[in-house]
Amino acid sequence: MNQNTCNVSFFDTEYPTLKLEKNSQLSEHLTVQNSPVLFGCRTGICGTCLIEVEGDIPPPNAEELEILEIFAPGKKQVRLACQIKLTNNIKIKKYET
Ligand code: FES
Repeated sequence: MNQNTCNVSFFDTEYPTLKLEKNSQLSEHLTVQNSPVLFGCRTGICGTCLIEVEGDIPPPNAEELEILEIFAPGKKQVRLACQIKLTNNIKIKKYET
């Protein structure tokens, strides 16, 4: 297994799994062609990029938590895709509010 990549797969969709550079930002790699995730501000403010995440990634910082409390209160598996750093293999799904 290559230690320098993380697999990002999309559950419940036809999008193929992506192999992305470890420790890079998820938002640098996802596009409308390769994923169902949409971005708006890419700075953690608008809430457009909400996703459900399965896998081990660093916990949200205070700013991300604040936005998550507004858009997905109490949903611990929901994160902002634009704020995620790839440290592990993850499975993601667009979060429908
Ligand atoms: S794109 Fe706006 S919060 Fe992520």
